[in-house]
Amino acid sequence: MLELRHIKKSYDNVTILEDINLKIQDGEIVSILGPSGCGKTTLLNLVLGLTPADQGQILFDGKDITKVPMEERGFNIVFQDYALFPNLNVYKNITYGLRNKPDISTKEEVDEFIELLGLKEHLNKKIDQLSGGQKQRVALARTMVMKPKILLLDEPLSALDGVIKESIKEKIKEIARDFHLTTIIVTHDPEEALTLSDKVLIVNQGHISQYGAPEEIITAPSNNFVKEFILNQLEIKRNNIFALFHQDLTRNAQVV
Ligand SMILES: Nc1ncnc2c1ncn2[C@@H]1O[C@H](COP(=O)(O)OP(=O)(O)OP(=O)(O)O)[C@@H](O)[C@H]1O
Ligand SMILES: [Mg+2]
Repeated sequence: MLELRHIKKSYDNVTILEDINLKIQDGEIVSILGPSGCGKTTLLNLVLGLTPADQGQILFDGKDITKVPMEERGFNIVFQDYALFPNLNVYKNITYGLRNKPDISTKEEVDEFIELLGLKEHLNKKIDQLSGGQKQRVALARTMVMKPKILLLDEPLSALDGVIKESIKEKIKEIARDFHLTTIIVTHDPEEALTLSDKVLIVNQGHISQYGAPEEIITAPSNNFVKEFILNQLEIKRNNIFALFHQDLTRNAQVV
């Protein structure tokens, strides 16, 4: 279990996160949802160990890891901008982390991740020859082969849309379930958060607005922010879909 106790973080005397308390069970998929600038990436970086907290504790399996350096925590992240190596081909990108730690994954296991993420036919390509969705899958594969104890994903689907987005969402779920991998995903899309995760953490202005299962968030939003931010956005989306549908109907009617 991962536990954050009274975590506080400021940058240049501006409080970014205030008194964050949180428990994430092993194997759970948790989405962090909130508006731009509310502190989502900062929260991931704190868990990863890239950024130190000003106050509070981080515990993993009951052990205090607040001061444990990033490399020793054994967590791993897929960054918002993928951060792939443009001069290496897909295969070399995927296996990059194994150069110095070859024992973490066998050749068969690497092949399994490549297969699972549908990257077999792209292994010799350079990164700039890939689509956004393919790059995203390379970034996922590169992280997965390192078998992190916790997988952190910063907006992994934001550059994608439609069918590709759905298929990668399914892959993430599948991998998390098959490997019993604790996964924390940042997003600012309520629909993505509610459909992908076991629990949703809603952050607003450095505070936890609500933390609960998707059903709970939908049926019992704990304050106005949750209501407005989440439910209104879903409503807007739904209305847009209806509007499009209606347009289509009207157009078809005219054709007839
Ligand atoms: N290294 C830093 N130094 C100073 N301020 C920072 C630093 N990193 C982040 N901030 C500030 O902290 C706040 C939260 O940033 P963060 O990147 O965590 O937001 P976010 O929720 O991930 O936003 P987005 O959805 O746009 O990615 C922002 O106001 C940002 O300007
Ligand atoms: Mg961010």
